[in-house]
Amino acid sequence: MSAARFDRAAPLLREESVDSTNLYLRRLSQSAADGTAVVAASQTAGRGRSGRGFLSPEGGLYLSVLRRPEVEPERLPTLTPVAAVAVCRAVEAVCGLSCGVKWPNDVLLDGKKICGILVESVLGTERPCVIVGIGVNANTPSFPEELRPVAGSIFTQTGKTVDLDALAAELLAQLDALYAGWLADGGSAVLAEYRRLCLNPGREVLVGGRRGRALSVGDDYSLLVRWEDGAEEALRFGEVSVRGLY
Ligand code: BTN
Repeated sequence: MSAARFDRAAPLLREESVDSTNLYLRRLSQSAADGTAVVAASQTAGRGRSGRGFLSPEGGLYLSVLRRPEVEPERLPTLTPVAAVAVCRAVEAVCGLSCGVKWPNDVLLDGKKICGILVESVLGTERPCVIVGIGVNANTPSFPEELRPVAGSIFTQTGKTVDLDALAAELLAQLDALYAGWLADGGSAVLAEYRRLCLNPGREVLVGGRRGRALSVGDDYSLLVRWEDGAEEALRFGEVSVRGLY
């Protein structure tokens, strides 16, 4: 039995199986308190970015947190890299493993994606909110062949089994702390940490068939890229994702 403690003021819901922890909180979004979190052992319809699914068998950690930030909507996209920093911190603290981030927000361990993050807004309602959803491939033993070149888990990469409760508790604690900082400063305090974790600078970038090289991460978490024709562009977080790191 895990000794992990979930010391949070906001409600924490534990479920065996849900369709998607993001959808679960979306259904509660008009009544749930700020900070409400749900942790599930598996998902039957895990949601990924750009309308993709997210494979969510038992062995992974699937959690979402509902937040009601009173900030300009343009600030919301930077919540995602802040969540990626929280994941890296939690994996380091619980497993002693150093992860990196493939811009904008895939967490990689030893060249494989072990975590995906999906931040969704529920706007135009009486009680708008954002839902920060995080899926960590922790103890997932294997992946379907088509995902194997890209996806891995902490288990497949290290042979170590993770205490899921300990990881969930640490991740929620890191998220809560980083969210409080993000509310105050828009994420500038963790920008240096994100820059250290980001694996793209110096590597090739491929966006919609266009090739270039990543130069650096901007103050707004954008990725500065120099294209093959020499033109430079800041890719804005939330608008594109880059390929070329696996
Ligand atoms: C991605 O890499 O495309 C994002 C994947 C996000 C998956 C997590 S798992 C918990 C939460 N619930 C979901 O349905 N999706 C997110």
